[in-house]
Amino acid sequence: MKTHENIFIKNARFVVLPRIEDGIDGTISVAEYSDHIPFLIKRVYYIYNLIKEGAIRGKHAHKELEQVFFCARGSCDVELDDGANKQIIHLTKPNVGIYLGSELWVTFHKFSMDCFLLVLASDIYRESDYIRNYEEFLSYLNRAGKKT
Ligand code: TYD
Repeated sequence: MKTHENIFIKNARFVVLPRIEDGIDGTISVAEYSDHIPFLIKRVYYIYNLIKEGAIRGKHAHKELEQVFFCARGSCDVELDDGANKQIIHLTKPNVGIYLGSELWVTFHKFSMDCFLLVLASDIYRESDYIRNYEEFLSYLNRAGKKT
């Protein structure tokens, strides 16, 4: 059964986790290498404590890093830009996340106040992996000869 829109941005796809439902005892969702997460997880971080409407996060690309994002609680929008196409994805379900490969310009916004954005990453934090300027991102794609 289709539960979400299609993603046409390269290097991005939904990750759907199983839901093991236990009635009043709650639900378990599991993210396991390699069925759901295509890399070995070296870092976990999370974004929470949104204190007012209008928060914007991201606005950068990564040269190598791969990540999977889940709104473990609440919802947010993910704006994807691969240099050729743009798409906004709504994350609304704790068991439906998004895999984002490298070389994508990503912006998070429209967070619900209760949002708990859980991120699984393929590497430790390295500032040198970030591209924080959009023009640099476009030239990085061109330089690498990978722009489609
Ligand atoms: P950044 O990745 O720019 O946040 P976002 O994309 O969510 O807006 O990181 C914000 C700050 O947090 C920056 O100073 C670096 C720091 N940081 C770490 O030290 N380790 C981490 O794993 C992450 C994700 C960020």
